Formats: sequence, C-alpha cells, structure tokens
Amino acid sequence: MGKRIAVFASGFGSNLQALIDYNKNHSLKGEIVLVFSNNKDAHALNRAKKNKIKSVFLDPSAYGKREQYDKKIIELLEEEKIDLVVLAGYMLLLSQGFVRKFKNRIINIHPALLPSFKGTHGIKDAYEYGAKVTGVTVHFVDEGLDSGPIILQQAVDIDQDESVEELEEKIHRIEHKIYPLAVKYFCEDRLKIEGKKVKILNKNDIG
Ligand code: GRF
Repeated sequence: MGKRIAVFASGFGSNLQALIDYNKNHSLKGEIVLVFSNNKDAHALNRAKKNKIKSVFLDPSAYGKREQYDKKIIELLEEEKIDLVVLAGYMLLLSQGFVRKFKNRIINIHPALLPSFKGTHGIKDAYEYGAKVTGVTVHFVDEGLDSGPIILQQAVDIDQDESVEELEEKIHRIEHKIYPLAVKYFCEDRLKIEGKKVKILNKNDIG
C-alpha cells in the first residue's frame, strides 16, 4: 500500500507544488493526504485546496507551549494515519516530543550543503560568506537543528557576478528536482539509516 504523506509548509509552497506535480506525472509511490500550516495565509494552503488535498491550519498562539501545539498536530497525523512528514518551508521548530514520535519519518529540505549554513537563511548566508559552491540538502529530522542523517545533496556553483535572487532561483530549481526523488525513495522503503549515514537501496535489494 502507498505511504500516506503530510506536507508541512508555512509559506509559498513551491516545494509542495513540485511534489504534487511529480506525483501526477511520475508517481511518488505515496499519496499526499494532508497539508498542514501554522500560517493561515500560507499560499501552500491554496495549492492544497486547488488539488483537493485536505488542508489544516492551526494557530500556534492558541496553544500555550510548543509541546501542546505539537501534541494537537500529532493527534491529527494519527487520525490521518500519516507515514511520512515532509517539511517544505515549515518555519517552526518541532518539539522533541514530536521528533521522537515520528523518528525517522520526518524529512526536511535545506537550501545549502549541510552542515554548512544551517538555519533560516541558508541561501543568503552562503552568498554573503562568499562561498563558491553551495547547494541543497534533503535530510531526516532529528532533535538538533538541520543535523539529521543526509538523504540527498546536490551542489551548485555560485557565479561571481550573479545576484542573490539568481542564486535563489537556481537553488529552488534543484530543490524541486531532488525533493520528490527523496520522498519517492522513502515511499519505496529504499532508505536505510545506519547511524549518520543513509543508504539508498537498489530496488532489487529491498525485502
Ligand atoms: C525552501 O527554500 C526550502 O529549502 C526551505 O524553505 C523554502 C521553502 O520554499 N526550507 P517553498 O515554500 O517550498 O516555496
């Protein structure tokens, strides 16, 4: 049976759109059954509606501590029998309780080559640092910040005359290409975590 996927997004949702499009054109071997947001104005919620995917917004300010908010989200994920949580521009840190509950079942995309340029401004930070190469990382989420086992990475050159906006565009194009692949590998049970390393199994090696 295909995996049931929840996508968490706080903003524009271009990665959500890439996943939806990939699923239409090639198949993720799973189904996006829920889009969740902490921001009622997130464009990602409109994308979900347009594609007839259940969308839920919960206002964090209506809950005391982050643990309480996350507990509510866990209930929702359990109701929906979610197998995989895909963070796609979700701007809140997940509580330890959440990460533990969904251990090895949460993935994130980061717009830099981890462990460089962690945090919310990966693209700008690499650009301003003067790095010559940056890229995109898809990784499992653990209890640290952008520190979980790496699934896929792709590098990109930073050309000396390009603007940060141009670099952003290049990075997003890579994101939209590699995130669906990582999700598909997960859905095919091809990701094997061994400590900090993630092996991508060949289809013939599974089972
Ligand atoms: C992406 O750059 C992703 O790497 C980062 O947040 C951004 C989300 O963009 N985690 P979008 O909302 O998917 O367009």
